[in-house]
Amino acid sequence: LAARVVFSGIQPTGVPHIGNYIGALKQWVDLQRDEASSTKLMYCVVDLHAITTKQDPVQLRLRKREVLASLLAVGIDPDRSTVFYQSSVPAHSELMWILACTASVGYLSRMTQWKTKLNISGVSGLSDKSVGTNLKLGLFSYPVLQAADILVHRATHVPVGDDQKQHLEFARECVTNFNSAYGDHLVHPETITPPAKRVMSLAQPTTKMSKSHKSDRSRILLSDSPQEIRTKISYALTDSLPGISYDPKERPGISNLLEICSIFDAAGRDVNNLANECADMQPRVFKEFVSDTIISGLDGVRDRYLDLMKRSDNYLAKVEEHGAERARQSAQETMDIVKSAIGF
Ligand code: ADP
Ligand code: NA
Repeated sequence: LAARVVFSGIQPTGVPHIGNYIGALKQWVDLQRDEASSTKLMYCVVDLHAITTKQDPVQLRLRKREVLASLLAVGIDPDRSTVFYQSSVPAHSELMWILACTASVGYLSRMTQWKTKLNISGVSGLSDKSVGTNLKLGLFSYPVLQAADILVHRATHVPVGDDQKQHLEFARECVTNFNSAYGDHLVHPETITPPAKRVMSLAQPTTKMSKSHKSDRSRILLSDSPQEIRTKISYALTDSLPGISYDPKERPGISNLLEICSIFDAAGRDVNNLANECADMQPRVFKEFVSDTIISGLDGVRDRYLDLMKRSDNYLAKVEEHGAERARQSAQETMDIVKSAIGF
């Protein structure tokens, strides 16, 4: 069994935006270079998680392909990294059931995301009231599936943002519960903290860029054409103060554009450097500069993405099948140990 195993997942919600790239995917790519070659890197498109909310089958199938193509386009190497769809590896669901049998309902019902969901539907806690709601059991128990995703591959390191820290803590709780019932078999995963960089919405730069924001213009997708990027940047909300300066509090829109620029800048300049460079620019000129920087930064990504989606030789399906085969083997090693410990 490998000494270090990194596991991370991405929802099949279509082509990622540049926030997803900077906050997650870029780190996945960088790990291929920074981790020793003995480290297993596992990147999973989590389609089982996706169906906790209603999905159209045709859309779901398309979005899985779009995400897979995006991963390859940004530089995930399917030989170095194990890339697969969650539903291709039945052991994720199988281990979930086993973990569910030692997981605490109380712990799950105290988790923030569940409480948020309950509050949205007007219920306060897992009480008699929640019995009457339309909230699904899968939504309540999805942290258990998330724990299974990680534990079934004996992941030692999981890149997670702040919003997911509680879920990793729950996965560790699942390890403790299982191990105290059946012996020291599952591995406690640790977090790897992704770069703190947050890309903000172009339409509302005090909130993060997100696919749930209603305006398409609020985010730039990895597949956007140069003209789409120019249009979105030209509509980006800024301010009427003169010149360009970096000041996230007073000038969130301009500062967000400077941040985005610093990420895609070929010369690797930081925000302060770029702010100096652009200090005297008119807003329109500055936005052209921002657009040019993003367009050249994403140039190869978009072309590779379009190529991969166009290929008719089932290339993406073959890549996924190759990853799924490796992931099934990795999961099997754990399931053998787990089942024998339980008495199956
Ligand atoms: P969304 O907010 O668009 O629904 P997800 O919640 O699916 O995105 O996030 C997928 C990954 O991308 C997570 O690791 C998350 O931390 C990261 N991420 C999402 N939005 C941003 C953003 N605006 N800036 C930086 N990272 C982000
Ligand atoms: Na989200």
